[in-house]
Amino acid sequence: MTSTSGGRLVCVGTGMLLGGHLSPRARVEIERADAVYAAVSDGLVELWLRELNPAFHSLQPHYVEGRPRTQTYEAMVQTLLDGVHAGQRVCGAFYGHPGVFAWVPHEAVRRARSLGYSARLEPGISAEDCLYADLGIDPGRFGCQHYEASQFMLFRRRIDTGAYLILWQPGVAGDRSTARFSTGADYRRLLVEVLRRDYPSDHPLTLYRAATLALEQPRMIRLRLAELPEAVVTLADTLVIPPLTPLQPDLAIRARLDQLELLQQATDDPA
Ligand SMILES: C[S@@+](CC[C@H](N)C(=O)[O-])C[C@H]1O[C@@H](n2cnc3c(N)ncnc32)[C@H](O)[C@@H]1O
Repeated sequence: MTSTSGGRLVCVGTGMLLGGHLSPRARVEIERADAVYAAVSDGLVELWLRELNPAFHSLQPHYVEGRPRTQTYEAMVQTLLDGVHAGQRVCGAFYGHPGVFAWVPHEAVRRARSLGYSARLEPGISAEDCLYADLGIDPGRFGCQHYEASQFMLFRRRIDTGAYLILWQPGVAGDRSTARFSTGADYRRLLVEVLRRDYPSDHPLTLYRAATLALEQPRMIRLRLAELPEAVVTLADTLVIPPLTPLQPDLAIRARLDQLELLQQATDDPA
């Protein structure tokens, strides 16, 4: 099905740093939109976006403590789609990357496309990108596992302790109502219990928060696993757990690779 109304949707990432991370392509989408709907990190970012395009609307009022985030997110998707149905060129602006731990942009694009509209995501610099730079982590060195903290608690996972483990939204870890802006020490105690299946209580962790203003420094709080329940954890923090165990060589696969290399040599050099 192809829509004839002319409505279209692009969800862009504004990056983490106010004014410093916006890609030229994302900027053009914001500037040329008939309407910009934004879910960004603070009021200053909203002011800056309004300068780029006066047809700016904040999605922030949809967030109300006590209202399940599922309802909030559904309302945001509807707002974006209403503009598209009305024939507008709609830009959804989301902090970080619009496709990283962000349900609304994915869902809005999915629904718009299913109705025949042109819709896509435009990538941005996410908290993950800042984390690699600020903490000096190369995800390719030992590998890197990313989970949403509540999902990590609610479902059994097989953790590779030879790789990094990154938990997103630890500030609301264990919140099944999806209606709270923070969960407390008791919830994090349970998170620690889950982590204790794989890590000792003195394993080092970092609570990480990327800078969102040029004059700010990233916040990197080092602590031990046992100290996590009493730590101050905000909605903007990400929990970084470094590897515990060395990489384990897979001797069987190495032996098979030896055989393949011998075969390859024989094929390359038949004499
Ligand atoms: C709904 S996700 C949004 C992520 C965003 N789309 C991105 O690309 O980074 C919210 C989570 O992102 C992480 N986050 C948000 N702001 C952050 C910051 N300034 N520094 C580190 N992590 C952050 C936290 O784990 C937070 O709970």
